[in-house]
Amino acid sequence: RSTPELNIGKKLNEGKTKQIFEIVDQPGLVLVQSKDQITAWNAVRKDQMEGKAAMANRTTSCVFQLLQESGIKTAFVKQHSDTAFIAAHCEMIPIEWVCRRVATGSFLKRNPGVKEGFRFSPLKMEMFFKDDANNDPQWSEEQLLEAKFCLAGLPIGRCEMDIMNRSTVAIFEILERAWATQDCTLVDMKIEFGVNVKTQEIVLADVIDNDSWRLWPSGDRSQQKDKQVYRDLKEVTPEAMQVVKRNFEWVAERVKMLLEPQVSGRVVVLMGSTSDVAHCEKIKKACVSYGISCTLRVTSAHKGPDETLRIKAEYEGDGVPTVFVAVAGRSNGLGPVMSGNSAYPVINCPPLTPDWGAQDVWSSLRMPSGLGCSTILSPEAAAQFAAQIFGLTNHLVWSKLRASMLNTWVSLKQADQKLQACSL
Ligand SMILES: Nc1ncnc2c1ncn2[C@@H]1O[C@H](COP(=O)(O)OP(=O)(O)OP(=O)(O)O)[C@@H](O)[C@H]1O
Ligand SMILES: *[C@@H]1O[C@H](CO)[C@@H](O)[C@H](O)[C@H]1NC(C)=O
Ligand SMILES: *[C@@H]1O[C@H](CO)[C@@H](O)[C@H](O)[C@H]1NC(C)=O
Ligand SMILES: *[C@@H]1O[C@H](CO)[C@@H](O)[C@H](O)[C@H]1NC(C)=O
Ligand SMILES: [Mg+2]
Repeated sequence: RSTPELNIGKKLNEGKTKQIFEIVDQPGLVLVQSKDQITAWNAVRKDQMEGKAAMANRTTSCVFQLLQESGIKTAFVKQHSDTAFIAAHCEMIPIEWVCRRVATGSFLKRNPGVKEGFRFSPLKMEMFFKDDANNDPQWSEEQLLEAKFCLAGLPIGRCEMDIMNRSTVAIFEILERAWATQDCTLVDMKIEFGVNVKTQEIVLADVIDNDSWRLWPSGDRSQQKDKQVYRDLKEVTPEAMQVVKRNFEWVAERVKMLLEPQVSGRVVVLMGSTSDVAHCEKIKKACVSYGISCTLRVTSAHKGPDETLRIKAEYEGDGVPTVFVAVAGRSNGLGPVMSGNSAYPVINCPPLTPDWGAQDVWSSLRMPSGLGCSTILSPEAAAQFAAQIFGLTNHLVWSKLRASMLNTWVSLKQADQKLQACSL
């Protein structure tokens, strides 16, 4: 099983669906190898399904790539082969986090009276202790706290629990938006976290594949494309297994498209003079971090309005969704002229100076009637606002914004915890 470039060491773990190998010379990393086998009801029904590992691989690697590129911390490092990937070595937290948008399955049994299809908003979170012998019992927050887990040296307390809870919600929302681009409803999802043995960070680990979620194309349960199809089989016939396999292929095929932007837009920064180029470069850098292309142009609405309008027409003419950012010091004529002559959004981002800034800013704030341009002083924040506009239609941009919000929340939580520990 080992491949030329990787020196596979000893097997660290083996479960029903995968094996975990040490990688010699690369401490802190492991190889996660899928097995050609599909399980349900804890392996009561077990069938080898040719090609399943390969499809699992593709699903997991696309999903983890999507999350990773969005800024979610995961154990995934890179794809290694058709059936294996390299991941950070984690000590796994033995909890399954379940997140639901639509009530179905075991939720209905545990909550009699709730009809299938009930929509949770906000999302419904549940956790289950991973304990095969007791059929993975549902746990409360208190049970997790009292279990006093400690993994890779990290005690799992309230802070860690809240981080996992919040992360699960963000991960669900990112995958939900991604699947929506394929006209598919993400009904529910289960994930696991581990503690990276090297960094002691809590990261999304294990895998996300067909077994991890319910997907209903067009929100229609009868077209479900997930493992439920397999669980529902009355009898495992070769024909029935073909249907399951086709469904797996459907998902593995679609999952690649989750990484494609539906619509790509661009930001065009117009500056009144090259003296503002450093300010504009900051806008560009931030745009690129959201995966949005950004062009810088020089034009003055006061000194060359014909040229300003010509440049405007250039970008209006090719059908690419565009946000204009106007960078003009002193009197900002640029933003208002653009805003009064284009249906595209315009953001004023004037580079204010300490001496006149308080006066100059009014040229960006006080508009003639009929103009809807916004004004954002920080160049990074102007780019963020442009990203929020594109995020309405581009799920990849939206996911970066969503993950960044999560990461900020986690940093604050951790900073608070650290300060509390110091003052004890
Ligand atoms: N990055 C990782 N580092 C270390 N262990 C991992 C990593 N990813 C997954 N594992 C662990 O590898 C083991 C084998 O996975 P598998 O999913 O086959 O187990 P399983 O039979 O489903 O049992 P479990 O109920 O623990 O999931 C699991 O215990 C899983 O938590
Ligand atoms: C496994 O995943 C990688 C990365 O997505 C992909 O290049 C490779 O083709 C996949 N293998 C199979 C058999 O799908
Ligand atoms: C997750 O957090 C929410 C909001 O704080 C809380 O209501 C919920 O009980 C938590 N869920 C779990 C399973 O811990
Ligand atoms: C992906 O979804 C299909 C559809 O049911 C499923 O058959 C397949 O097993 C899933 N992939 C994996 C690896 O579980
Ligand atoms: Mg498992």
